[in-house]
Amino acid sequence: MELTRLRGFQDLLGANARAVAYVEDRARTMAHRYAIDEIRIPMLERLALYEHSSGETSDIVQKQMYVVRRHEESDPDRGEMAIRPEGTPGVVRAYIEARLDRSDPDQRFFYLGPMLRHERPQKGRYRQFHQFGVELFGRADAAADAELMFMLDSLRIDLGLELKFEINSLGDAKCRPAFRAALLEWGRDHLGQLCGDCHNRLDRNPLRLLDCKVDAKLTTDAPTSVDFLCDECRRHFDQVRDLLTLNGVPFAINPRLVRGLDYYNRTAFEVVSTAVGSQNAVAAGGRYDGLVAALGGAAVPGTGFAIGIERIALALDAQKIDSSRADLAVIALGEKAVGAAAMLSQHLRGSNLRVEMLSPDRGLRALLRRADKIGARFAAIIGDDELARGVVQLRDLKASSQTEVRREEIAAVIERTRA
Ligand code: HAM
Repeated sequence: MELTRLRGFQDLLGANARAVAYVEDRARTMAHRYAIDEIRIPMLERLALYEHSSGETSDIVQKQMYVVRRHEESDPDRGEMAIRPEGTPGVVRAYIEARLDRSDPDQRFFYLGPMLRHERPQKGRYRQFHQFGVELFGRADAAADAELMFMLDSLRIDLGLELKFEINSLGDAKCRPAFRAALLEWGRDHLGQLCGDCHNRLDRNPLRLLDCKVDAKLTTDAPTSVDFLCDECRRHFDQVRDLLTLNGVPFAINPRLVRGLDYYNRTAFEVVSTAVGSQNAVAAGGRYDGLVAALGGAAVPGTGFAIGIERIALALDAQKIDSSRADLAVIALGEKAVGAAAMLSQHLRGSNLRVEMLSPDRGLRALLRRADKIGARFAAIIGDDELARGVVQLRDLKASSQTEVRREEIAAVIERTRA
């Protein structure tokens, strides 16, 4: 028996773990700035939760669920359960279960954690991946949708990513039936050209015809939702667009964007990286005004998004954006310098630098190699002479240059080089 990891599952360690943790850390910081509370939800939920939210016709429910069955008579929770393929249904369930929909409907949550989907693995597409998601409840206004994209744009700027925002409006219960009917008619007219998947989609969920990956060109003349919007939906969509423009979020309208999950209405959006290949959707989301009520709660609107953490990490890597472990390695040469090196390390950590003090048990060449390996841009070297004079030899490992710097000036020198 081979005890290896399963296909599509990853061990994250070294640089990969660091990159993922770095993205998670920046996402958390962003969430705090937007005054959003964390929510932690279970990994396992009843299968029916996903059938009633993600949608029975969605790929997630039809093909990608990890289902767990327990049939012990004595277990009150027996039946079919699923490991979460996405966070939104669980967050909505928790929101209703805490009765917030009735007592205090305006809520802002973020979540972070692994999701499981049985997809065909490839670079950027895994069977276990991590999402950072945000869900805003109780807000029907366009500013809430725009704020979600402001959050993603803040992350784009913070991380230095090259991203493109695509938005669309899917209409609502009032105007969507006419759009759906028009797509159905178009699909029936083009029956001979539709792929096998689209044949299945036609009656169950014709919107997904626009999402066909087999023959995207076929749908260029198909009806799109923006042409069917009612006055309220059109106004809402115009407001979202105006707010994005006003705040300098770079976006384009993609009338073919329909999303693969059933709960969306009005605003839907996707964020794609222009630096990575095929799995370039790094975040996606939209409005889901009917979902809380559909799962048994009050009629409270909601809107949200989720980021694929691994995909952002891949985009950072493709853009060669550094997520190294340390800024500076502190090296003591000889026993006597150890105390000063330890104090210096502590002091520099207080100046917000990431510092690793290396074990002084090896020679300088080996220690410099180690500093390079942990990704440190600088090494501060203290020997007997430097100790006596209150200085360090500050080596820039990227530029291969070295200067003598007074200990209290190190942070400023590093800061200047990074700017
Ligand atoms: P989603 O589009 O299914 O939406 O997933 C969101 C993001 O998760 C994707 O854009 C992608 O970056 C990442 N992702 C999805 N599947 C994989 C995979 N197999 N491997 C790696 N990354 C993946 C949702 O999940 C919705 N719950 C988003 C949402 C929240 N809508 C409203 N609120």
